[in-house]
Amino acid sequence: MAPKTSYFCQSCGHESLRWAGQCSGCGEWNTLVEAPKPDAKPAGKGPGRSRAGAAATPVALRDVSAPAVERLVTGINELDRVLGGGLVPGSIVLLGGSPGIGKSTLTGMALGNLVAVGRRTLYVSGEESAAQVRMRAARLGDAALGVPAIAETSLETVLATLESERPDACVIDSIQTLNAEGMTGAPGSVGQVREAANAILEVAKRTDCAVILVGHVTKEGAVAGPRVLEHLVDCVLLFEGERERSFRTLRALKNRFGATSEVGVFEMKGGGLVEVEDPSARFVGEASGAPGSCVLCSMEGTRPLLVEVQALVAPTEIVPPRRIANGVDRNRLAMILAVLARHGGPGLASADVFVNVAGGVRVDEPGADLAVALAVVSAHRGEPLADPDGKPLACFGEVGLTGELRTVGHADRRLGEALKFGLGPILGPPEAERMNGLAPQATLRKALGAAFARAPRRAAA
Ligand SMILES: Nc1ncnc2c1ncn2[C@@H]1O[C@H](COP(=O)(O)OP(=O)(O)OP(=O)(O)O)[C@@H](O)[C@H]1O
Ligand SMILES: [Mg+2]
Repeated sequence: MAPKTSYFCQSCGHESLRWAGQCSGCGEWNTLVEAPKPDAKPAGKGPGRSRAGAAATPVALRDVSAPAVERLVTGINELDRVLGGGLVPGSIVLLGGSPGIGKSTLTGMALGNLVAVGRRTLYVSGEESAAQVRMRAARLGDAALGVPAIAETSLETVLATLESERPDACVIDSIQTLNAEGMTGAPGSVGQVREAANAILEVAKRTDCAVILVGHVTKEGAVAGPRVLEHLVDCVLLFEGERERSFRTLRALKNRFGATSEVGVFEMKGGGLVEVEDPSARFVGEASGAPGSCVLCSMEGTRPLLVEVQALVAPTEIVPPRRIANGVDRNRLAMILAVLARHGGPGLASADVFVNVAGGVRVDEPGADLAVALAVVSAHRGEPLADPDGKPLACFGEVGLTGELRTVGHADRRLGEALKFGLGPILGPPEAERMNGLAPQATLRKALGAAFARAPRRAAA
């Protein structure tokens, strides 16, 4: 009997009967993955398969009937917000995250809340026994204990259960543990993951079940399995955080039903994940106001977030000196130091520079430039940016290569957030219109002047 599967190159689509390290079609390495042969599938199904099919009649989109779908609200506000307002029936969400970050906890809590409002749910655990799942649920509270669960790794059994139970929402924890019959690869191999995801997608669309697939994450931070998986699903969420810290962030990498810029912040506590509704308050409350500390008005998606940027400048003999950046891009730091050296700041060629965003937060936006620059100069001079009462200086803005300050998005929201915490005036780039609380600065040099004019000079040592 001819084998039912073949090996396909993920980069060029070349088919090969046997696995090889290098694709003979395009020469890429490690791109061949096992997948069912296309002709093993029933013919004539899907678009473009059959050449002799009857023609379809296109309909103007305005005339397509689109019943208003009611989203399943999970009751976890941060999760609902990142999803764009709740789970969409018949959609598939891929939730990725490193081991132990709280994926099972988050999904368990979401299903518990849905059960509590009378929805049908199903929790499929391929990683833990039902007893282990129960132990976690007991920690999460009464609602989570009401979730029907099965401990199962056979794809066929899971599909049959979905058909018979017809849940409104289902969690598969995790997609890498499912085992499809007739595929030779081990569970978690690319062929298996793709096959399982495809089969689940089909059932979910047909039965209008919202499915959350939990996925493992590789060392590089991508969801393990084929890239195809990310294309297949409607929404890709990444649950991130450092294991040593209790803060976790949930981001959408892709969302067919909402914005991808939203970020949810959680904290892991004894009773499960707790939403952090006001992260700014926490980070600003901890800002020290010492030399080298500056508050940045950053944006996390559509939400403004105040974070503390800290810098340390230490003389060094090492060539080249060290540039260590936590939470900001290292290349961006190098650029800011170069602009500082050229446009009104100190030359730090013989100093190590360390920059850290407090609280383990990552800010990946150019709006952080000015805060990094001010923190570094403050650390270098040993002069605090805070005013004599200890009120920290807040700022935002992109630093251009010619030393100018450039406009960044959502200036009004950044300002609003800082003013809410009693910070101000806030240093920022010049805006088209006058904004309350903003002290606009055209260049980095002017911003430095303004920042240190308001701080008391430290007595010369
Ligand atoms: N009583 C507790 N108090 C605080 N945190 C706890 C408690 N019990 C467990 N945790 C935290 O919950 C985390 C495990 O959560 P969970 O099992 O949801 O993670 P996961 O992402 O599903 O992990 P895996 O990849 O192993 O499936 C642990 O890392 C631990 O930090
Ligand atoms: Mg888990």
